[in-house]
Amino acid sequence: MTEPLKRVDQSMTALDDATITFDDDLLPDDVRAEPADPTTGDLDLEARSGLRRVAGIRTDLEDVTEVEYRQLRLERVVLMGVYPYGDAIGARNSLAELQALAETAGCEVLEGLAQRREKPDPATYVGSGKAKELRDAVIATGADTVICDGELTPGQLRKLEDVLKVKVIDRTWLILDIFAQHASSREGKAQVELAQMTYMLPRLRGWGESLSRQGGGAGGSGSGGVGTRGPGETKIETDRRRIRSRKAKLAREIAEMKTARDTKRQSRVVNRVPSVAIAGYTNAGKSSLLNRLTGAGVLVEDALFATLDPTVRKAETPSGREFTLTDTVGFVRLLPHQLVEAFRSTLEEVAAADLVLHVVDGSHADPEGQLAAVREVFADIGASDVPEVVVVNKCDLADPLVLGRLQRREKHVVLTSALTGEGLPELLQVLEDEVPHPDVLVDVLLPYAEGALVSRIHDEGEVLTEEHEAEGTHLQARVGHGLASDLAAYGS
Ligand code: GTP
Repeated sequence: MTEPLKRVDQSMTALDDATITFDDDLLPDDVRAEPADPTTGDLDLEARSGLRRVAGIRTDLEDVTEVEYRQLRLERVVLMGVYPYGDAIGARNSLAELQALAETAGCEVLEGLAQRREKPDPATYVGSGKAKELRDAVIATGADTVICDGELTPGQLRKLEDVLKVKVIDRTWLILDIFAQHASSREGKAQVELAQMTYMLPRLRGWGESLSRQGGGAGGSGSGGVGTRGPGETKIETDRRRIRSRKAKLAREIAEMKTARDTKRQSRVVNRVPSVAIAGYTNAGKSSLLNRLTGAGVLVEDALFATLDPTVRKAETPSGREFTLTDTVGFVRLLPHQLVEAFRSTLEEVAAADLVLHVVDGSHADPEGQLAAVREVFADIGASDVPEVVVVNKCDLADPLVLGRLQRREKHVVLTSALTGEGLPELLQVLEDEVPHPDVLVDVLLPYAEGALVSRIHDEGEVLTEEHEAEGTHLQARVGHGLASDLAAYGS
């Protein structure tokens, strides 16, 4: 059948379950490993295949069409990456991240392969020799899906599926799938669905042609017959039409929701409530930090993209100044373009903020890469000019050398651990210093009947002096423009 695959020492990959195989020349000399013991390699595989649970994750877009291939089941997968020459560590991180993404989507990752090539093959993504090797790995592991670390053209997907005889999914679809599983608000769901459809439309034909999308552990046998034929032309045309009209409807709904969101934001702007956005790479610990900061009970999961819907909540600086704190969707390298577009209105919360807390996982293998990936999206949504504080989280796990490096390289850094609480006082101080002060100075005498206005000054503004006089409360304070105009009748 197939030669035993070359394996990399698992301790080097930090991947616990699956085996990642790289072309030898992709690895730096010091991490090149011996091939696995040929006497145990196959047994190993057999044992692994025997023990896997069937995850059975489905992503159904029931509204649109009942076509079988829309119902993805990402179950037993082999990963495949094509990386340019040179950056072996980057390739390894990318494939490891693909594994984390696949597991977040509910897959069992059985094997990982990487090929070093100048560019992916225009026809089949991997070269033809590697495609055979990949097919062997699929058969040996009993995988029913191959996930490629990139965005494949519809033609590449189709041709690779023809060779492999199992379904092929790319990184973009995988991320879209995870987003679909995690979106919970109406707006989030609509945005993801729109992105999925945009992606799916040109790929309909390829995905229906030659094999069943039902998967279900066929073990790559690719046998023909009932259930493995794609839908006929007429069906595809009907689907296309239905998808187009569903897309148009979703776009309209999203536009309406955006209007509502803009109105809310506008009212915060008028009232000059300062806003702080928490943004950062997925799994950096944004929700955990937010929890620490507000005791807000935001969902925290040890999975990528637990947070899809931005949560805007009220917060206070230690001295009692009010501001809003917004948690945003987790970012990821190569965030599919369709998603950036779909989430544009949500991400614009970041562009409209007075301050961004850019959270990064200090214990990750490549925190600088994560910072750069997030900043690319910032640039894309016009948020590059918002003042940014880099919050290096998980410092309980991080290498002190890496922390030192980040402190030297980044302008404004706070080290935190949402787990131990380390650095939280410093983070609160940053908020105290950086959250903008309200900019209108008022000096008012408020009759005692206007207790509500006095409370608003306390809540929204910064009280400088307060005296209780015979006619009322005399206050000197800094407030926002909205409140200042409500106070105009009572003084300067
Ligand atoms: P997304 O929703 O994917 O964007 O993730 P997030 O950035 O909101 O991360 P989240 O707060 O969900 O944390 C991800 C995982 O990291 C969880 O398992 C947390 O318990 C863990 N975690 C968060 N902060 C720390 C920390 O300071 N130290 C350690 N050791 N673990 C942490």
